[in-house]
Amino acid sequence: MTLEPAPADTRTTPWWADAVIYQVYPRSFADADGDGMGDLPGITSRLDHLASLGVDALWLSPFYLSPQHDAGYDVADYRQVDPRFGSLADFDALREKADRLGIRTIVDLVPNHTSDEHVWFQAALAAAPGSPERDRYIFRDGRGPDGAEPPNNWTSVFGGPGWTRVPDGQWYLHLFDVTQPDLNWHNPEVVAEFDDVIRFWLDRGVHGFRVDVAHGLVKHPDLPDWDGHTAMVEGTTRTGGADPIEEHVPAPMFDQDGVHEIYRHWNDILGEYDGDRMMVAEAWVEPAPRLAKYVRPDEMQQAFNFEFLIEGWDAAGMARAVDSVMAANEAVGAPTTWVLSNHDVVRHASRFGLADPTGRSAGIGADDEQPDAGIGLRRARAATLAMLALPGSAYLYQGEELGLPEATQLPADAREDPTFVRSGGADVGRDGCRVPLPWEAGAPAYGFSPTGASWLPQPASFADLAADAQEGVPGSTLELYRQMTALRRELHLGTGTMAWAEEHAPAEGILAFTTEGVLVVLNTADRAFELPAGAELLLGSVPDAIDGGALVPDAAVWLRLP
Ligand code: BGC
Repeated sequence: MTLEPAPADTRTTPWWADAVIYQVYPRSFADADGDGMGDLPGITSRLDHLASLGVDALWLSPFYLSPQHDAGYDVADYRQVDPRFGSLADFDALREKADRLGIRTIVDLVPNHTSDEHVWFQAALAAAPGSPERDRYIFRDGRGPDGAEPPNNWTSVFGGPGWTRVPDGQWYLHLFDVTQPDLNWHNPEVVAEFDDVIRFWLDRGVHGFRVDVAHGLVKHPDLPDWDGHTAMVEGTTRTGGADPIEEHVPAPMFDQDGVHEIYRHWNDILGEYDGDRMMVAEAWVEPAPRLAKYVRPDEMQQAFNFEFLIEGWDAAGMARAVDSVMAANEAVGAPTTWVLSNHDVVRHASRFGLADPTGRSAGIGADDEQPDAGIGLRRARAATLAMLALPGSAYLYQGEELGLPEATQLPADAREDPTFVRSGGADVGRDGCRVPLPWEAGAPAYGFSPTGASWLPQPASFADLAADAQEGVPGSTLELYRQMTALRRELHLGTGTMAWAEEHAPAEGILAFTTEGVLVVLNTADRAFELPAGAELLLGSVPDAIDGGALVPDAAVWLRLP
């Protein structure tokens, strides 16, 4: 299929190399039909917001047919839109409008597991042990007398055991919820099915895929016991010794070398289509050179760089993450990506308001330390300003352009993340970053839905942060994001290279680098630092970033040197 070229795109590098990509979480972006759950027509009706934000592409989290036991990451049919979100015609309308606005569309691909309601899993349950139907998943006999013990000791990322027993005594593997059985990627039928799913969406005009749990598809053939903690955000690898790649000990369920053959094959499929179609790996893999294997020239185009995201408010740590990821990616000739928030982690406007931003990755509850909203937002704006100047592509998560905080006071009975239930409430889960967006300060559900319904309650603090309350207001977070993307484009930030500017980082806590003739300075220290005399301020993360020629704490600037 041939795509129309995006308007005014005259570059020779692929569009994704320096793209700003906005993550839309369909459940919570905008609800057109008033049932309290966002939908595709709602997204289409608000696409002008994305155009005014100046983003190059949008990535849609899953909107496929799903019982929603993991918010759509449990797919029952990969080619159908869930009626909660609309129809295929609604998807086409969304994609076509986005194209007209010059915004490309990326969809989520969830190949590690299906929903237990998928026709394949239902057939597997109905079939006998050893049948072809069971072989599409990872069914095994148990250990111990009568096979009553699970085949190995793996746990679920969401807490609890990683295996569930079916009535005939066999067990199936689910690295996530019990309703998300893992597929067997050694089975050619699984490979062929996903080839077809990928073509289905490419034929419908999508420009790329975000590949869920890209490091999980292939498991160690022996399914050996593993005593490590099976997690996503923290990564699930142990490293040691002088050579981090040689000494790397991958967990047996993640980052097995066999995954790369799958991505080489998918890259061939992308190559059948025009328009620089792409894939981005969601792979919580360490160290950086292992992650860079996913973006070798014949594999995926991008991988999320979570090393930067999990750093605290610490210039030295951020610099280490930048160096490590850029060096690893340069070694394979791939541009890097940057991201600070998504639907799985605490929003960075709240993370940076905690005493230790690295301490809570997945959820804050009412009984936990509460973030300092003021400091958190100041730091988030500063970190984003620095991030958007780094060479490579950047991902934004819906609502961060409004400065939304994590919702930390959600009542237990409103929470839907399976992590909450499977951990017995020990881990509050990710609902706090998934609360429906506030569009209009004075409207019911802050304009999220026409009826005022909202699948998660919105905090009162959302009123002041609603999009219409920030529209045209100088210094608002929304206007800052618009300025950042516009100036980034004008100054060609995101392209080219960067170099540390130690001469402008006089003390610990200051991050300074130059790129495309711009000096970027970020202050994570607790005192102000003198900026170079005569420098022209291009953009500051807050209106008062500079005081008497010095960069104040918790702020960042883009400067042009004299
Ligand atoms: C997605 C999560 C999801 C998990 C299982 C992840 O990495 O981003 O939201 O729960 O995969 O599909």
